[in-house]
Amino acid sequence: MLKGKHIILGITGGIAAYKSVSLLRLFVKAGAEVQVVITPSGKEFITPVTLSALSGKPVISEFFTANTGSWNSHVDLGLWADAMVIAPATASTLGKMAHGIVDNMLVTTYLSSKCPVFIAPAMDLDMFKHPSTAANLELLRSYGNHIIEPAAGELASHLIGKGRMEEPENIFAVLERFFSEKKTMEGKKVLITAGPTYEKIDPVRFIGNYSTGKMGYCIADEFVARGASVTIVSGPVSVKPKNQDVKVVSVESALEMRDAFMERFEGADIAVMCAAVADYRPEVVADRKIKREKDDIPVITLVKNPDIAAEAGRKKREDQILVGFALETDNAVANAQDKLARKNLDMIVLNSLSEQTGFGVDTNKVTVIERSGTSTTFDLKSKVEVAKDIVNLISEKA
Ligand code: C5P
Repeated sequence: MLKGKHIILGITGGIAAYKSVSLLRLFVKAGAEVQVVITPSGKEFITPVTLSALSGKPVISEFFTANTGSWNSHVDLGLWADAMVIAPATASTLGKMAHGIVDNMLVTTYLSSKCPVFIAPAMDLDMFKHPSTAANLELLRSYGNHIIEPAAGELASHLIGKGRMEEPENIFAVLERFFSEKKTMEGKKVLITAGPTYEKIDPVRFIGNYSTGKMGYCIADEFVARGASVTIVSGPVSVKPKNQDVKVVSVESALEMRDAFMERFEGADIAVMCAAVADYRPEVVADRKIKREKDDIPVITLVKNPDIAAEAGRKKREDQILVGFALETDNAVANAQDKLARKNLDMIVLNSLSEQTGFGVDTNKVTVIERSGTSTTFDLKSKVEVAKDIVNLISEKA
């Protein structure tokens, strides 16, 4: 997949720079053309001689080449590249990239590049944990960069924790996967709701449900794999997206989910409503833990939550696609069709409820009903595969 691809390999000043040699070898062996750009401190860890011998090109570090005085054009380099990989990326380089501090050739090239950028951070565990690193990574992610999370293990300091640069083979695999996937959803913005909502009764109790968010997170991963930029507005779940480019906005209650979703809906091309939103919430939330009284049984009055999908259906533009989910126990197809019309959806995914489907399990069996009346029933599959089926149908309309 990488044969003939132009790759800029950016190396910064961290111990993990020695692993960049293996990464460079893998790229070259796969037939890619690699231009190494190294920061001044990167050269303290690994010599340009090794890197230029392996890449077959002079290594670029300065704005000018010392012996000839010629200018190294970061603009040309940025346009030449099919991908830029910064491995290792130190905390300092992450900060500079996030905030546009272009004091070396590597960061300058990054700012001039138009290609996908992959960043593999590497640093000590406390530096990685620091809120400034987390904030910089979040910013870089929001600019559309692909973050290759560091692994946990023994670090150069002999401390154990998260901060080791991902292994070269795995970084190489991320690039291979990226170039092998069809980017049919490039440029599309996808908004997904997932997980349960928790409706507070008092500071320690809530009304919730068994939704784990798995289906919504699989759909998010599938859209990202096809090049879309994806945000999940997620209720409390323990799953995480596999693809680190999925942006997660965490909420707790239906009201919070509605606000976070509606704020972003106008900017979305596609919205997929997977969340199991609580239909009701307690009218009042006790500000102190409700005490067990001897004889009195507390009465909790419920009020209706907003129907987020229906609200989106009312506000939907012609060019937006709105997909809902349904879980029905009786008259499933008729009820799902009714829901599709009532909420002004373009498509509804009908889940079946059995031991192998529904909450918490890794498999699902769905029937997708479209506004035109077309209905497609799929076999029992893993949720990852179900996500592919659903995204295939959506992409026919997008
Ligand atoms: O009406 P019902 O809850 O069965 O509708 C299910 C669909 O509507 C799902 O797509 C669900 O995410 C969405 N929904 C919502 N807000 C609610 C209730 C359901 O977005 N309050």
